Amino acid sequence: MHRLRPGDRGRSGAPVGDPKEIVRAGYDAIAERYAEWAASFESPVGAWLAKFVELVPAGSRVVELGCGGDNPWSRMLAERYEYLGVDLSHVQLARARRAMPGARFELADATRLELEPGAYDGVVSLFMLGHVPRAEQAPLLVRAAGWLRPSGTLLATMGTADAHDEVEADWLGAPMFFASFDEQTNRRLLEEAGLEPVEARVVPFEEPGHGLVRFMWVLAQKSHLRHEPVTDT
Ligand SMILES: C[S@@+](CC[C@H](N)C(=O)[O-])C[C@H]1O[C@@H](n2cnc3c(N)ncnc32)[C@H](O)[C@@H]1O
Repeated sequence: MHRLRPGDRGRSGAPVGDPKEIVRAGYDAIAERYAEWAASFESPVGAWLAKFVELVPAGSRVVELGCGGDNPWSRMLAERYEYLGVDLSHVQLARARRAMPGARFELADATRLELEPGAYDGVVSLFMLGHVPRAEQAPLLVRAAGWLRPSGTLLATMGTADAHDEVEADWLGAPMFFASFDEQTNRRLLEEAGLEPVEARVVPFEEPGHGLVRFMWVLAQKSHLRHEPVTDT
């Protein structure tokens, strides 16, 4: 099971410097340790990706935000879809490129990423949003909705702790930035972005030594209504 995933619980950390630089430097430093740690237990990822795969046909265009280094879920996405993996950390991306030589990757901050509007059938973001400053989470959801075609599918994890931007001094061996909203706020942000939940719920699970973690798993589809041009009658 995933133990200390971003955004899963409240924290009391130090004041924050540049969040993106903290996250980038953090994952550059801990990429190998993170990979070993994440591979050492199971999380609900498989079950939720199966739901995503049911909604998004093979061969579709899918972008994964915060794809990380090598992991079985990204490999499955890259094999099944016309895949673009995006990550802030060049060490993570170097691992991903080595593991998935045929796949397309881009080194970028997801909150600044420019993609063709309406061109994607799926957006996947697992355990990344909790590393995005609170003020940037709503705009990122709006951008993700903009990249999706109508009825395109989002699969994402969101933190559920009402936790302001904070830095944890030692997260798997490096300082790490976290931020999250509560479940109700997450639902409002999705709605405001024009993303209608197909299934969205908190899936708590016990992590040995770390207690209960509570991520909100979100499978949502882009509303047909929101991005249609308004016409005078
Ligand atoms: C907890 S890891 C998750 C990796 C992978 N999705 C997984 O489930 O194992 C979070 C990843 O998101 C990336 N990340 C965090 N903030 C990001 C941002 N603003 N833009 C792009 N990638 C980001 C990190 O570099 C890291 O590789």
